[in-house]
Amino acid sequence: MILTDEHWPSDLGPVVCVVGARPNFMKMAPILRAFGAHRPALPTLLLHTGQHYDKDMNDRLFADLRLPRPDINLEVGSATHAVQTAEVMKRFEPVLDSQRPSCVLVVGDVNSTLACALVCAKKDVPVVHVEAGLRSHDRAMPEEINRVLTDQIADRLYTTERSALANLTREGVAEERVCFVGNVMIDSLLANREFAQAPAKTLQIAGGDPAVIDDPCGYGVVTLHRPSNVDRSDTLQALLAVLREVSDGLPLVFAMHPRTRANIERFGLGELLRSPRIVVLPPQGYLEMLGLLASAKLVLSDSGGLQEESTALGVPCLTIRENTERPITIEQGTNTLVGADPQAIRRGVDEILSGAGKSGRIPEFWDGRAAERIAADLSAWLLARHAQRVG
Ligand code: UD1
Repeated sequence: MILTDEHWPSDLGPVVCVVGARPNFMKMAPILRAFGAHRPALPTLLLHTGQHYDKDMNDRLFADLRLPRPDINLEVGSATHAVQTAEVMKRFEPVLDSQRPSCVLVVGDVNSTLACALVCAKKDVPVVHVEAGLRSHDRAMPEEINRVLTDQIADRLYTTERSALANLTREGVAEERVCFVGNVMIDSLLANREFAQAPAKTLQIAGGDPAVIDDPCGYGVVTLHRPSNVDRSDTLQALLAVLREVSDGLPLVFAMHPRTRANIERFGLGELLRSPRIVVLPPQGYLEMLGLLASAKLVLSDSGGLQEESTALGVPCLTIRENTERPITIEQGTNTLVGADPQAIRRGVDEILSGAGKSGRIPEFWDGRAAERIAADLSAWLLARHAQRVG
C-alpha cells in the first residue's frame, strides 16, 4: 500500500488512549491534540476507566484541559487496589476484542495504567507507555510496582528525563524500545498558563477569604494524599501540626484530596487546621491550581506532578517524601526532599522565606513539544510495523 501524507491505513486500528485518575488527564490532553494535528492524523479512542469519578477529581479537569468526552467509560470507581485493578482488567478485555486497536497508550503509574497494560500483554496488543522509566526504588509505593510492571510489558517507551533510560536498561528493557521525548505534563502547563485563574478569584469562589494570601510573605500551596502520609493518625497529626506552625509565618492554601479529608475526619484532626491563615479547599480544577502554583512562594506536597510543575514554574517545592522518581527536579529544578520530618519541613520553609530557596532551570525537552515528538515517533513506528505485517 502506498502511503501519502494524509493517509492512515484503513486496516490499522485506532490508538486506544487510557486515562483513569487525575494525574493522567493533563498528560493525555496534549497527546490527543498532537495525534489529531499530525499528518497523517493518528485515529484515537479515549477510554476512561472511571478510577477517579467525582466532579472535583474528574469533570472539572476534563473541562479545563478541553479533553473530549471519553468514547468509553468503564466506571470502575473506588475499591481496594486488587479489586480496582481486577475490575479494570475484566471490563477492558472486551474493548480490545471489539475495537482491535493498533496499540494501547497508557500514561503514568496509576492502577489503571498497569491493569490495561496487563490485559494487552495477554492479547498480543502493543502497549505504549508515556512517562516510562521513572523509579523511586521504593517498592512499598503502589505506583512503583505499577511503573516497573508496565515498563516490562510495554513495546514502546517514552521518557521524560534521561535518567529513565538507565533505570530501564538495568531492568533489561532493550534500548531501542525507549525514546526520550520530554514531559507531556509540561506541554499542558505551557499551553494553559495564559488561562490560569487568579488565586484571589479561586479563593473567593471557594468561599475562602482572598485577603489571607495578601500577606507580605506571599502564601504556600499544600497538597497531601499519599497513603504513607495520610493513612496513619500519628503521621498525619504530626504533618498537620507542622503545617499549622508554618502558617504562622506563611499563610497556606491546602487543596485537599478526598482520601486526606476522610482521614482527618476519621482521626478527629480537623481542629489542627482551624486557623484564619490556613484556607482548606476541595480538590481544584487545573486552571485554578495552575494559578495558585504560579504565584506561590513555595509548594509543600507529596504529589509526583507538583514536583515537575513547580520546577517548570521556578517555584521552590518541598516534597514530603523520602524519595522521588523524578530526580531531575532535584538536580536541575526547584525541588527538595524533606520527608515527613517536622524539623526538616520547618527548616526548608525558613530557608525559602529567607530567600535561599532553589530557583533551578528548565530540564531538557520540557519545552511544550513532547506530545508532538510522541506523535511523530509513534506514527512512524506503527506504520513501519504495519508495513512489515502486510508486506
Ligand atoms: C491515585 C493514584 C496516585 C495519584 C492519585 C492522584 C493509584 C495507585 N494511585 O491515588 O498515583 O497520585 O490518584 O489523585 O492509582 N475518591 C473520591 N473521588 C474520586 C476518586 C477517589 O472521593 O473521584 C476517593 C476514594 O473514595 C478513595 C480515595 O479517594 O478512597 C483514593 O482514591 P484512589 O483512586 O484509590 O487512589 P488515590 O489515592 O487518588
